[in-house]
Amino acid sequence: KGKVKTQWVCGSCGHTEGKWWGTCPECEASATMYEAAKLTDNAIGSWLPQPPQDLRPLKLEHVYRGFNYDKWRIPLSGSFGNEISTVLGGGLVPGSLTLVGGDPGIGKSTLLLQIAAMLAKEGRSDEGPPVVYVSGEESLQQIGIRADRLGINSNIYLYSSTDIEDILMKTHDLSPRALVVDSIQTVYLKTIIGNAGGIMQVKECTTALMRFAKTTNIAVFLIGHVTKSGEIAGPRVLEHIVDVVLYMEGEKHSPYRMLRAVKNRFGSTDELAVLEMSQSGLQAVSNASEMFLTQQHSDSNVLAGLAIAVIMDGTRTFLIEIQALCLTHCPVSSSLANGIHANKANIIKCVLIKQAGLHLQDNAVFLNVVSGQTVTETAGDLAIAAAICSSFLEFPIPQGAAFIGEIGLGGELRMVPRIDKRVNTLAKLGYKMCVVPKEAEKLLEAEGLGKMKVVGCKDLKEVINAVF
Ligand code: TYD
Ligand code: MG
Repeated sequence: KGKVKTQWVCGSCGHTEGKWWGTCPECEASATMYEAAKLTDNAIGSWLPQPPQDLRPLKLEHVYRGFNYDKWRIPLSGSFGNEISTVLGGGLVPGSLTLVGGDPGIGKSTLLLQIAAMLAKEGRSDEGPPVVYVSGEESLQQIGIRADRLGINSNIYLYSSTDIEDILMKTHDLSPRALVVDSIQTVYLKTIIGNAGGIMQVKECTTALMRFAKTTNIAVFLIGHVTKSGEIAGPRVLEHIVDVVLYMEGEKHSPYRMLRAVKNRFGSTDELAVLEMSQSGLQAVSNASEMFLTQQHSDSNVLAGLAIAVIMDGTRTFLIEIQALCLTHCPVSSSLANGIHANKANIIKCVLIKQAGLHLQDNAVFLNVVSGQTVTETAGDLAIAAAICSSFLEFPIPQGAAFIGEIGLGGELRMVPRIDKRVNTLAKLGYKMCVVPKEAEKLLEAEGLGKMKVVGCKDLKEVINAVF
């Protein structure tokens, strides 16, 4: 085995030196140099499958503790960079392996090319370490054209190959800051039997990429196609090998894309990036909380039967419009709900009849969540009830009002998690009134909510008296 030499790397710009410096000679940041092992020539290839006798259990006290990934995460700047940085847990960890999964055509290649561009630019102003983008999916020309469309002109090396050994060897020569492999389904290891995309290939190639990332400290991104059910041999079986799993989601006809951390060894899995696919690629959404609201809501002619709920996804809050239509002598035999579970819709209808005295018995109730979202959180109960009341009473809910709370079978309003965060979002957006469970009132007193009025209600009767 080759001997491992020590080198010093600046955590802020990635500059390397043969000895320690108090101040980085390159970017002049102080106390950022950390020790990293440098591979000698004959250690190259150590990321390939190893005979088992090379690996030994290590005594706890001998395990190296100098690795503090938080200290030398690579920050990503700008509004787009911030979104990505957040899902990664506060910047990219060198030597990490990140799997980016998602349906074909959702925008994974676009996303990774944009991330590659950012990483190649970050840090040093002139010629910083490059980023290598390997594609087994598209030709170099196709990627070049995409880069032009995205306005990318960074220090990126493109390579078209599917042989992992070859990819890693040539990537190592360039000492890049990061490596992107598009996609895991197209790469293979010569020593493993089976076609690219097969379960053994996918597993072994990922393991090789993991060893490569760990031995070289190069951050590796791996793209994987996956269907909603995750049946295809691929990303699902890789989740336990890699450090970070991000899934890209979005509706077919919507420009919005969510990037969600499903697993993260270096941060929380509660994080979510909200992006928008535009002509010039993916961008951060500036008003993500409001992205599901429709335009007409800002007009003065407010419809009856429309109520706003505040839903949480991870640590983010979203305002969602719920519409209800109550109809007597309905030609359609039953009530329908779109984006709300039918059981929930029926229970809320019955609670309104029994506990709030609403004569809904002869009405068919239609419910719809605007913009095709699905409301599963119980915090949306109150807005569903409010929308039904508003349609039934033909009384529009005043503009700038929102509803948060779970409804019990007794018609009582129950607390929901993170109510302070939800209410704060409304206040920040200039909402005038927010109906919440009584218990939440005291809790919210301490918050600086500006002009917004918090209306605490014990049960549905109180809500109806306060609003309608
Ligand atoms: P792509 O990144 O190729 O998806 P994936 O790698 O997940 O299969 O891009 C998917 C779609 O994004 C493609 O159909 C076109 C669209 N797109 C834009 O709308 N704007 C752009 O700037 C780019 C590059 C792509
Ligand atoms: Mg692609």
